[in-house]
Amino acid sequence: MKVLVVGSGGREHAIVRKLKESPLVSGLYCAPGNGGIAADAVCVPIKATDVAAMAAWAAENAMDYVVVAPDDPLALGMVDALAQKGIPAFGPNRAAARIEASKAFSKDLMAKYGIPTARYKVFTGPDEAMAYIRARNEYPVVVKADGLALGKGVVICQSEGEAAGAVHGMMVEGRFGASGSRVVVEQFLTGPEVSVLAFTDGKTVKPMVSSMDHKRALDGDAGPNTGGMGTVAPNPFYTPAMAARCMKEIFQPTVDAMAAEGCPFTGCLYFGLMLTPDGPKVIEYNCRFGDPETQVVLPLMESDLLAAMLATTNGTLAETEVRFSAQSAACVVLASGGYPGSYETGKAIAGLGPDGQLPGGGCTVYHAGTRAEGGGFVTAGGRVLGVSAAAGTLPDALAAAYAGAGSIRFEGKHLRTDIGRRALEAR
Ligand code: AMP
Ligand code: GLY
Repeated sequence: MKVLVVGSGGREHAIVRKLKESPLVSGLYCAPGNGGIAADAVCVPIKATDVAAMAAWAAENAMDYVVVAPDDPLALGMVDALAQKGIPAFGPNRAAARIEASKAFSKDLMAKYGIPTARYKVFTGPDEAMAYIRARNEYPVVVKADGLALGKGVVICQSEGEAAGAVHGMMVEGRFGASGSRVVVEQFLTGPEVSVLAFTDGKTVKPMVSSMDHKRALDGDAGPNTGGMGTVAPNPFYTPAMAARCMKEIFQPTVDAMAAEGCPFTGCLYFGLMLTPDGPKVIEYNCRFGDPETQVVLPLMESDLLAAMLATTNGTLAETEVRFSAQSAACVVLASGGYPGSYETGKAIAGLGPDGQLPGGGCTVYHAGTRAEGGGFVTAGGRVLGVSAAAGTLPDALAAAYAGAGSIRFEGKHLRTDIGRRALEAR
């Protein structure tokens, strides 16, 4: 099969490299891809959000299957546009992608179907939102923009003043554009966070190995929220008993709820969970693989990725094997100095071979924001590389990933030195 992967980050590189192992794949393409992905797939210069151009290219070039990896093309209806051209695709259609694209939609879904989540209210005006926050008078309080906001639309407010600033920024200044025209005001929850990615065909749901993201920019979970600075898998807080409980109370009920609403979800459903003292609760859904969760989850996948993806599209997931190894994996993100704020690009990257990998082996280097230049690679984004390793134990996986991360150099390189520390303490 000729397969096109849409997107250009570390997640897409991890998907490409796992698909490359599949005997079902005869041609692999990535649009737009990046400098490192070009070593593993033919890169096609079409923007991930250009739905019409992507669907036209896939049809002209006779793609058999398209994997739409990022949230924005899913929310824009790329899977629907491909279906109109007769091309099957991995990922939800536009209606089902609302589970991530609208927090009001996902919160109302959970409320209607009794899926555990933080108590909340949705507001369309700043005055009503602030009146509610003042009357409630409980801090911290969480203020969330309704729509997609690059992981920056959530503000944990410690006081009325901070809440007023967040509501004003979203609803009056329009900091996130239309995404902030509605806000969700939510109860603050505590407990360890777990990411669970799951394949689903709209009826059956098969979770992958669990993982733990590290969202803050700096060691000790300080600094601003980022897209994710590193991950480990499995997540030690997520015991087999907790997994069984989540399947019964959250995963299957969510898939059934989407079907009952007339928008069955197919593809990868990402459950962002918090294990609170009152049990597991949904913090957020994503309609796609997580980034950098994918860079630790897919390296542990032993069964065929394309077969599982096709099963979500064909409705045959119940009969399809989805198997993971019992090893551990760790991914350390190398970011540009300044990320998630402003940063410079075009810095030469030292330490990589011509294929974008480490000559010594021991890890896989997933390219997130790189460009090929002068026979080597230069930085081209906030998150530049994800250095990932798998091993029999988490300490060994972390040691290998950090050894690899240390042998790569570029001006302004920033990494967290404590990825996996909380996971190690939990064991
Ligand atoms: P999100 O973009 O929805 O994943 O939120 C980003 C981060 O904000 C999450 O990973 C949590 O750490 C935190 N967060 C979101 N909602 C809540 C909540 N209700 N209580 C506590 N923390 C939250
Ligand atoms: N790493 C979090 C996300 O992909 O949304």
